[in-house]
Formats: sequence, structure tokens, C-alpha cells
Amino acid sequence: MQWTTEQRYTRLEDISKSELAALKKQVGGSPWRQTYHIQPETGLLNDPNGFSFYNGEYHLFYQWFPLGPVHGIKYWYHTKSKDLVHWENAGIAIRPDSDLDSHGAYSGSGIVHNDQLYLMYTGNTRDEQWVRHPKQNIAIMDKQGIIQKKQKPVIHEVPPGYTDHFRDPKVWKENGLFYAVIGAQRTNLTGCVVLYSSPDMETWTFEGEIKTALPRFGYMWECPDYFTIDGQGVLVFSPQGIAPKGDCYHNIYQSGYVLGNLDVETQSIDHGAFFELDRGFDFYAPQTMEAPDGRRILVGWMGLPEMSYPTDSHGWAHCLTLPREITIENGRLMQRPVRELERLRGVQMEASADLCDEVQTFDSFSGTAFEMICSFELEDADSCGIEIRVSEEEKTVITYDALKQKVHLDRTYSGALTDSPYGTVRSCSLAGDKVTFRLFVDSSSLELFVNDGAEVFTSRIFPSKDSAGIRFFAKGGRATCQAVKWTIGE
Ligand code: FRU
Repeated sequence: MQWTTEQRYTRLEDISKSELAALKKQVGGSPWRQTYHIQPETGLLNDPNGFSFYNGEYHLFYQWFPLGPVHGIKYWYHTKSKDLVHWENAGIAIRPDSDLDSHGAYSGSGIVHNDQLYLMYTGNTRDEQWVRHPKQNIAIMDKQGIIQKKQKPVIHEVPPGYTDHFRDPKVWKENGLFYAVIGAQRTNLTGCVVLYSSPDMETWTFEGEIKTALPRFGYMWECPDYFTIDGQGVLVFSPQGIAPKGDCYHNIYQSGYVLGNLDVETQSIDHGAFFELDRGFDFYAPQTMEAPDGRRILVGWMGLPEMSYPTDSHGWAHCLTLPREITIENGRLMQRPVRELERLRGVQMEASADLCDEVQTFDSFSGTAFEMICSFELEDADSCGIEIRVSEEEKTVITYDALKQKVHLDRTYSGALTDSPYGTVRSCSLAGDKVTFRLFVDSSSLELFVNDGAEVFTSRIFPSKDSAGIRFFAKGGRATCQAVKWTIGE
């Protein structure tokens, strides 16, 4: 279905109860509703926003267009949790209902200040000529969960040298001052990040552009994030317009990081290479927060802009990833599912096998929502791996190719197709004769952590409900495998 501009800018408040009920019914009939991931009740979810800990709870908001699987006028939807595992829907947080944000309450972040949760976000506005005027706004949530917008933007205009693609403030506090990075496009149509500072979250001063060693790296950088882990700086951003190279950059847009400490005085950052955060098909616009115990936790959007997905015909699209703890080890980020996710573990099963050029299944090793950890040791096999969500017609294949020293995720036969001009296999290099795969599988997704979080592949898959088989294989020789699996909610 083609959505007209008028339909995309229709507000939730302007449709009838029965229209909404019909939409909910349509979504409820979708076979691909997730069982333990954050997903929208109806319509489209995109970026995680305002990820924070306040008043004894984690708060995680997301970009939301309620009325269908398209990027229409965006709201902030609020979810909260005491343990990063069980999330409660807390309703709409920010409505695009004034001159501050008339054409969408776009992405932003949260920080605790004066015992309140300050949410800084981009108000997307357009004038009669449909020219975009981004404004950076503040909304404040109190302990009762009541959210009020400040009546005026805190950053009214785009500074000279940048286009109207100027959005997604991410705030932190350093030496008693607040700082915000904002994603921007220079007037020469290249992407970058700019820095603002504030003593009080109200008066903001443009400090300058962050000078990186990547002056021409795509045409827009969205959703920047800056933080330190044990004193080491990390700049995360989502660049658009990067061409594929080897195994990298095969999705429509990218998300990645550079390691380096930002000098807020000079806005310079002496950094290393850009690395993709995720090697899967569906990952974008991640955001991090610091947990009360000091862990740095990341959540991403399990989706990408401008792509169609099979759930579109059911009136909804996308979900968020599971929260991951990130650390720096040997000059790279490691990403591990937060330990609290062990609370999801249900019935445990174990299996081990010596595989010799064969495919094996184990009794009752199957499922559509589960966690599994599987370690392979290769003797003389050329490759080994796992197939999940298997039936006669369908399978999702994870392979370690020892000859090429690569991991592959193949969703060619995973079920209904997402946009496939971007290919159906993702790969990354990995050395060694041992490999461990940790999988979180839900009705329509796979999050695959390779070798304790050295690489992650995050992907939607759309198999039928009956495709629940799990198989283990070795090709061209011997490999041993040990697997442990837990049901999740089944
Ligand atoms: C990233 C993004 C942000 C913007 C938001 C709008 O996916 O384009 O740059 O704030 O989505 O929903």
C-alpha cells in the first residue's frame, strides 16, 4: 500500500477508536509478533531514545508512528523496566503537538538532572514550503512519570555550515558541564557530528564540529553517541552513504564506532579505525546508557530505514534489540547480552556430538523462542555450524568456514523475504579452530553473539511457526559440538 503524505501525517489523536481497534486486531493476527523483545503495539518502531535509569527504573523510549508500518509523524513511546528484561509499556511520552515538533518528535536522549529526567530531542518542523527546520527541545519527566515540554527550543537554529539534516542530541555530563553531540550534514553534503555545551540543560552553546579523521565518510551521520569506558572514549554514529567494502557495509545504512578520547575544549578526537557494531542484516541507530553499577549498555533498532519487511502487511514493523553490555578489549568493543537476560531461561537441555561430514539433530532440540550456546572444536572439518528455524522448506544457517576463516549468516531460506537487493548472506572474518555461537531466537529474530561478543549478527527472520527444527553440521571432516539450550517462555 502506498501512503500519501496526508496519511503519513495523520495523528493518532485524529483517528477513531474503531479504526485503532481494527489496526490492533490486524497486528494481533501477525504470526511474527515477538515474545520477549520490545515491539510496537501497532505501526512502526524505530530508534531507541532516552535510554536512562531514573527513580529506580530503566527507561527506554522509542520512535513511533502509530498508524502503520511507515515513517510517518513520529511520537516518543515510553517503556520501563526494573531489570532490563521485563519491560512495561508506559504510554506515549512525547506527542508531536506544537510548533516545537509539528512534523515529528525525532530522536534524542535522557539524563537525570535536579531529580528529574531531562529528555533532549529534535523537533522536526516544516514550513509552508515544506522546508525542514530542526529544533532541539527539552521535555522533563518527574517521579510520577509526568512529562512536560519546555515551551521554547533550547537550540533554535542550525549553525552556519550545516544543512537542515541536524538532529538526534545525545547528552552527557563531564566536569560539571553538560555536553551534547548532534548528528549533522555539512553544506558540502558530507556527514559529521557537532558539539554543544550547557551549564544547566537550558542555555546551550555551539562549541564546534568534532574534528575526526573521517572528513568524507558518507553524506549524513545520524544518532551520534559519545561515552567513556574506564577512561577510554568511544564515538558511535550511524553514517549514511558508505559503499560496501569486502564483508562490510552491506546494509542500506551503517552503524559503528571509533575509539578515541574527545577533547571538549578543542573538539578534536584522536581515534582509530571505524568498525561496524553489528554484522547482521537489521541493526541501526543504537543508543547507550550507564547502568547504576557502571556498566555501559547498548540497545539498537532491529531494523533499517527505507526497507520493506513482511510484517508491513500486518500493520506493524520492527522491534528493539536485547540490551548488550559493552566493554573495550584489545582495542575493540565486545558486546555481550546483559547478564539479567539469564532470567528468561526456562527448561534447560544439553547435547554433544562428534560430527563427521554429517548433519545431526537431537531429541526435543527445537523451538521458536530460545537461547542456545553452542561451541565447536574443529578437527579436520572444512566448516561447521547450526541451522535453526528448520522445516522442509526453511532454514537459517550459521556457518564457521575454517578454510576461509569466516562466519556466515545465511537467511536465503529463512522464510518470507525482507528487501533482498542488499543480499541474503552476511559474513565476517574470524580466526581459530574453535568457535562459540550464542543465539537468542525469537518468533522473528536472531541475535547471534560470536566468540563471547567479539562479533554480533542481528537479524530479523520471518519463518513459519512450524519451522522450529535445530540441526548441527560439520562438512569435509570432523568437528565436535557441545550445546546447551534454554526455552524462553515456551
Ligand atoms: C534514524 C532517524 C533519526 C531521526 C529519526 C526519525 O533512524 O532518521 O536521525 O531522528 O530516525 O524517526
